[in-house]
Amino acid sequence: MAEPKENLQMEKIVSLCKRRGFVFQSSEIYGGINGFWDYGPLGAELKRNVKELWWNAMTRQREDVAGLEATIIMSPAIWKASGHVDTFSDPMCDCKKCKKRFRADQLCEDQGLTLIKTPAGKYELPAGTKCTSCDSKELTEPRPFNLMFQTYVGPAATEADIAYLRPETAQAIFAQFKNVLETSRQRVPFGIAQVGKAFRNEVTPRNFTFRSREFEQMELEFFIKPDEVIEAIHGSVATVPAIGHPGEPQPNWGWQAWHQYWVEERVRFYEGIGLSRATLGFHVQTKEELAHYARACTDILFKFPFSKKDENGNVKGDELEGIAARSDFDLSQHQRFSGKPMGVFDEELRAAWAKLPKEKSDDLWKRYYDHRKNYLTKSAKPDETPEQISKQATDDANGLARGQYIPHVIEPSAGVDRLILALIANAYSEETKTDDKGKSETSVTMKFHPRVAPFKAGIFPLLKNKPELVKKALEVRDLLRPWMNVFYDESGSIGKRYARQDEAGTPFCVTIDFDTLGEKPELLDTVTLRYRDDSKQERLKISELRDWLLARIR
Ligand code: GLY
Repeated sequence: MAEPKENLQMEKIVSLCKRRGFVFQSSEIYGGINGFWDYGPLGAELKRNVKELWWNAMTRQREDVAGLEATIIMSPAIWKASGHVDTFSDPMCDCKKCKKRFRADQLCEDQGLTLIKTPAGKYELPAGTKCTSCDSKELTEPRPFNLMFQTYVGPAATEADIAYLRPETAQAIFAQFKNVLETSRQRVPFGIAQVGKAFRNEVTPRNFTFRSREFEQMELEFFIKPDEVIEAIHGSVATVPAIGHPGEPQPNWGWQAWHQYWVEERVRFYEGIGLSRATLGFHVQTKEELAHYARACTDILFKFPFSKKDENGNVKGDELEGIAARSDFDLSQHQRFSGKPMGVFDEELRAAWAKLPKEKSDDLWKRYYDHRKNYLTKSAKPDETPEQISKQATDDANGLARGQYIPHVIEPSAGVDRLILALIANAYSEETKTDDKGKSETSVTMKFHPRVAPFKAGIFPLLKNKPELVKKALEVRDLLRPWMNVFYDESGSIGKRYARQDEAGTPFCVTIDFDTLGEKPELLDTVTLRYRDDSKQERLKISELRDWLLARIR
């Protein structure tokens, strides 16, 4: 496996992941396969917890979001409409001498250089770029490499049977927008959430699981009214303070308020699973970085051990999630490519429009027309004439008076595997103790937030050769099992068992001892509860144990 050892901290994390069963190399017994990773017993639990917490926060705890679970292989027409077939590529170049292949932007970045993008959209290597493997300056010109994995559907395997493994979960949400709208009885503003696998044939997968070829996403597409519609109904678009959470959603919010709302909601989510603001960073994409249809995109970053320092020596971090304001681009593309209407009807808009002063309706009409014309021009098919485009934009703007528009969208899109790596890096904590004889021993504690921890409690009988203790401990295990993931362990000394759970990140351990059995009558049916992070212990009644734990793990 060609996993570069970025630094000591990453080496330790990678080693712990294998040793304790968080992450294994995929197909390890055959030498591995670059860019693919498996989650072992602890990793699988951690990942499941994270996805469930996201799903809960984004759908079940909200009135305005519905869920979706779509297929990985979809009609290839979806990827034509989304632009992935034509433009979803990374610039790749090869060393002519040692034949090593690079992602051209990363090759430049690793040498403190910036890949040049010409006005025509082509890439060029800046002067001085060399191969980081053999130092040769004989490099091929960067050329685009499409990141979609390709396969064939059916036995014929002809050009017409080509299909793709989805490179993002988002497009299924757009393609099913109308079905979800009609069956969920939602009205704009509302969102559709999906968690699932996505695939990108990365030129150079790197940084352990951070950039993998098979990965999982948690994506929300939150559909909102265009600002012109808000203005027609409410007179104006709400202004919200530029910094901080804008509070409970309001009917007069435009795209900026919704965008800010979702950035802050997502930060709260991360804080709620143990990633404090100090561990996070932000990157507000510049106009040059934004896709032509996007109005804004804020990336939430995590300061990974491999994250680079900026010119001032500060670690900015690497992306966990992007929150993009994507206008009405996606639904418009699917409307144009599928020929199926993707707009919605809004009675409130129709009624409000009829009452607008002409000056106001003219102004809103013109702004909407300009926006639609701009989109239609940029996305025009070769055979579309400017007259056809103007006519379509006119039809679209005229639709406002009939209460019709294509929703805009805010997209919080998170990578599960990156988040798992962030949680592991954040939890990793070492302590070295030296005994009386001068012998040092380093122990690892994974300080996961109890919400994400793979096991919530370790359950131990003090001694395994005392049937009464074992019987009682198994009773406690069975009492908790329907409610949470617990780990029963009777082997080795109590100290060893604590250490094993510390490494697994189990926040609480419960020991059943002779007092539990009534050796001290006043302690009958109580257990020792030990905290992972400070090793403190207290005594708790078995009858209170379940609720005590539930209050801390939810
Ligand atoms: N849908 C956005 C992304 O996959 O990054």
